[in-house]
Amino acid sequence: MKALILSGGKGTRLRPLTYTGAKQLVPVANKPILWYGIEAIAKAGITDIGIIISPETGEEIKTVTGNGENFGAQITYILQSEPLGLAHAVKTAADFLQTSPFVMYLGDNLIQDDLEQFLDHFQAKSLDSLILLRRVPNPSAFGVATVDDQGKVLALVEKPEHPPSNLALVGLYFFAPTIHQAIANIEPSARGELEITDAIQYLISHGYGVESLQLEGWWLDTGKKDDLLAANQIILDSLVEKNIQGTVDEQSKISGRVTIGPHSQIINSVIRGPVAIGSNCHLENCFIGPYSSIADGVKIRDADLEHSVVLQGASIVAIQQRIVDSVIGKNAKIFPAPCRPQALRFLIGNDSQVELIGPSSYPQD
Ligand code: G1P
Repeated sequence: MKALILSGGKGTRLRPLTYTGAKQLVPVANKPILWYGIEAIAKAGITDIGIIISPETGEEIKTVTGNGENFGAQITYILQSEPLGLAHAVKTAADFLQTSPFVMYLGDNLIQDDLEQFLDHFQAKSLDSLILLRRVPNPSAFGVATVDDQGKVLALVEKPEHPPSNLALVGLYFFAPTIHQAIANIEPSARGELEITDAIQYLISHGYGVESLQLEGWWLDTGKKDDLLAANQIILDSLVEKNIQGTVDEQSKISGRVTIGPHSQIINSVIRGPVAIGSNCHLENCFIGPYSSIADGVKIRDADLEHSVVLQGASIVAIQQRIVDSVIGKNAKIFPAPCRPQALRFLIGNDSQVELIGPSSYPQD
């Protein structure tokens, strides 16, 4: 059994963060999203892992993730020169996969359930494919399945305008090598991609064994800001244990599950967990509220922040209003005018969002 993790793509929905970095490396509780998938796969005993990368972000993914040693696995990087679809990615990985069955994992998905139970089902029933499903309120944004009451998949359709059910395809699939034959027989979809959904539909139409199981736990597709904040909240809730390695002065108060990495300094501040703080951070005169993740090398002084993700090297200084529900990019700087501002001055990248929340809210578009 091998694994194929898809970590290419352009990450358009997480712009501007993804102009300068891979969406799969955006941290959740200070760990790249991609690593959760690698860990889950290694935990299920699958150690031969291929990772599909793109020319734009592949080098960064390789540098940060390495050869797999840290995960007890062996990682082979496979370049997909253009984002031509999930089935195209499988085609690109043909040399790596050979005739092995494999699990395919989308690198921006986070799944709570352990993979072992699904792997057991796939192997015990000698299926050609096992897919995972989850009921969602917005099925049109996903691949959608119609199943019978035994979980046998009757039909699949990719992002339908009129969804036949609310069962979305989760980004985790198990395949026997028959999938290659199916992929060889499909055509690009209307969006110009070779869809894995169409390849699985081919298996179904030609009488191969395709079954589904529904996820019990949570599933997060971290492609957008609010999903990223939701993922951060869930992971902090379920994983973080108190672990303080940096220095905390006597004026500071730390409560709940808080992790603080080496060489970070906390001065005269209140930190209320669950919160993850990386290494080499400097936090002074601040309140850090629940569900915040602060990456390495961040500086926060005279500011309040909660339910937010702050990426490496950012600095936030002397902000009177509490910062909430925010994602602040690498090396971003937020600082005030020397006196009460009469004007606001910005240097903000493409696709950024700045929301100034007043006592009464304006209607939004
Ligand atoms: C892909 C699949 C879709 C699946 C989704 C899960 O969509 O094509 O069937 O439901 O992943 O995250 P994408 O997000 O690549 O458009």
